[in-house]
Amino acid sequence: MTKKKTKGKSKTLQETIIEVCLKRGIVFPTAEIYGGSAGFFELGPVGEALRQNMIDLWRDTFIKSEDNVYEISGSTILPEKVFEASGHLDSFNDPLTQCQNCKSMYRVDHLILEQVGIKVEGQSLDDMWKVIQDNRIKCPNCKHDLSPPKQFNMMFSTNIGSTSGNIGYLRPETAQNIFLSFRRVSHSMRAKLPFGIAQIGRAYRNEISPRNFLVRLRELQQMELEMFVDPDLLNSHPRWDDFQDTEINFLSQEAQEKGDKATFITIKEGIDSGLIVNQYLGYFLAMETGFIESLGIKKGKFFFRHLLDHETAHYSKANYDLEIEFPFGVVECVGLAYRTDYDLRKHQEKSKTKLHISEDGKKIIPHVVEPSFGVDRLIYAILLASYREGDRDWTWFDFPNSLAPWEVVVAPLQRKDGLPEGARELFWELKDQGIDAIYDQTGQIGKRYARSDEIGIPLVITYDYDSLEDDTVTLRERNSMKQVRIPIQDVGTIIREFMLDIVSWDEMTKEFGEFIKNSK
Ligand code: GLY
Repeated sequence: MTKKKTKGKSKTLQETIIEVCLKRGIVFPTAEIYGGSAGFFELGPVGEALRQNMIDLWRDTFIKSEDNVYEISGSTILPEKVFEASGHLDSFNDPLTQCQNCKSMYRVDHLILEQVGIKVEGQSLDDMWKVIQDNRIKCPNCKHDLSPPKQFNMMFSTNIGSTSGNIGYLRPETAQNIFLSFRRVSHSMRAKLPFGIAQIGRAYRNEISPRNFLVRLRELQQMELEMFVDPDLLNSHPRWDDFQDTEINFLSQEAQEKGDKATFITIKEGIDSGLIVNQYLGYFLAMETGFIESLGIKKGKFFFRHLLDHETAHYSKANYDLEIEFPFGVVECVGLAYRTDYDLRKHQEKSKTKLHISEDGKKIIPHVVEPSFGVDRLIYAILLASYREGDRDWTWFDFPNSLAPWEVVVAPLQRKDGLPEGARELFWELKDQGIDAIYDQTGQIGKRYARSDEIGIPLVITYDYDSLEDDTVTLRERNSMKQVRIPIQDVGTIIREFMLDIVSWDEMTKEFGEFIKNSK
């Protein structure tokens, strides 16, 4: 774990990031003024901009670039019948133990892992109880005995309406709305298989012990896509040639059992060897790889883990988790499940509504392949991957341009002599051109450069005395801290080209020459 010395005390990268998030208002506890509420966080302006930019990127990648994926937005409270059918009422459980003395509650598998380093996730309650007894695990709080584990359902329940007895649940995954909307969407869009339905939204899980900042939350956000496919055509993906050679970092079930590490394989190798169960799963493994890299997370820093059978969700026949290296271990940030026809069949049975597609005289209940992205965890992964320190007197974020909270800061060199007026005029012109600019005239210019770096804004324009004379401004780049001098009339175009990676900073410096007058 990376450690940093601050005032004699060692800090982990995780502690540093949390501190930066609080200080810059990127992420902070919900109801902080009342002491917070475990498992709930607010995103401030920078965190929210990151979230929106990541969602835009996801929508571009998984919806807009496809010809057959439709986005919906559904209710977050759903009636009990939905979860009776989906199996969540019976199976969406975590194992719970309680201290017989101080009544503290613990998630059993996490407690065992922390106390004695044994992995028991997915094992039976009896087996976990045996591990507790054999290893004499006690309550970490008061050292008294723990109770035998029992299952705890993680859904939040509520009463719908004024009369009691009409139970609803806050959805634990956005996916269920997609299955519930399947009939309407497929009919209204005249959708032909294969097609997808996507949803971005909130889900709720009453975690026994929320932890690790944005990793284990009680209110979370998901970007999910259910791809509906004719089960006879799961190995006939129309774009197979485009993605079969994509390399992914893959940890097979066998490698896990032997204690081996992930290795790079192509999707074709995965399919040919049976490690990847079908081509649609292969497609999304390739797509996920590209998406995660576009967030600034390097290919060697994440891998796909084929979940062991006892870890696989009740609705899934195979799961491939995308796990990213965090300072405290690897974290599942994206799940990929082969849900088969499980959900549609269950809802068809319970609702007595036909949920098939009629094609060429055949009635098909499609199979589902589901990539499911955890928004909050990915925000945390981006913050960790982009955090930089040591090359200047302040810390900064090296966000990819497409994620940066703003594109450019517009700053007058001084707050006098007509400079603020000129800078303001340019600021509004840039806004009119659709550039996401923010205006800053507080403090010394050097401080403003630092503030801009600290929240990962790629560019700063300074309007100075020469600007009044010759209609040029300086443009400073975050990563190199270098500046060029450019004509005001071209600023919008130059920023646009830089932000879209059409022109690199090196090319810009070659064209305009480095400017070295204003403070760095
Ligand atoms: N829909 C899958 C999940 O929420 O984990």
